[in-house]
Amino acid sequence: MTAEHRHIETVIQFLQGAVAALEQPKPLPVGPLREAVEFLRVYADQRHHQREEALFFPLLVKRGVPPQGCPIGGLNNDHAKGRAFASALEEKISAYEQQQPGAATALRQTLQEVIQLYRHHLWMEDAMVFPMAERLLSEADNQELLARFAELDRALGPETVARWEQFATRLAAPANAPGGA
Ligand SMILES: [Fe+2]
Ligand SMILES: [Fe+2]
Repeated sequence: MTAEHRHIETVIQFLQGAVAALEQPKPLPVGPLREAVEFLRVYADQRHHQREEALFFPLLVKRGVPPQGCPIGGLNNDHAKGRAFASALEEKISAYEQQQPGAATALRQTLQEVIQLYRHHLWMEDAMVFPMAERLLSEADNQELLARFAELDRALGPETVARWEQFATRLAAPANAPGGA
């Protein structure tokens, strides 16, 4: 799941670049931004967060981690916030595309909120939850998780997973910074 975090981080980095590009007078093409939001919806939420919510967190609970409060309650809450932000971003992107007054500022602000949420969330999981899982989960637990992750991927569609991983890999290339820098 660490590899998934790195793909998500790449897309968050791209959104950070979009915040900077929106400060420039040159209009920002919305196509790649829309794709980044779709990545958050499909890859970050439907794939990665589903793995955590349906399998990984419940297994941690089974091994003694409290289901509410810190960290699992907070992380589930972040996932819900992430879903709401994806819809908010779509609205702000449309308003920006229609050149509504103040739309660039509003889009920048929502992007910054999304970036902050994901950065904090990834940090919590990388620095706290994954190391805790390494201590709590046995080799058999890990094998079971991998098998069930593969089932979820089959349901989502392996080509969908591959498509969005390629998208993140492409974005990691410097030539694909927002605004074509
Ligand atoms: Fe998460
Ligand atoms: Fe995660």
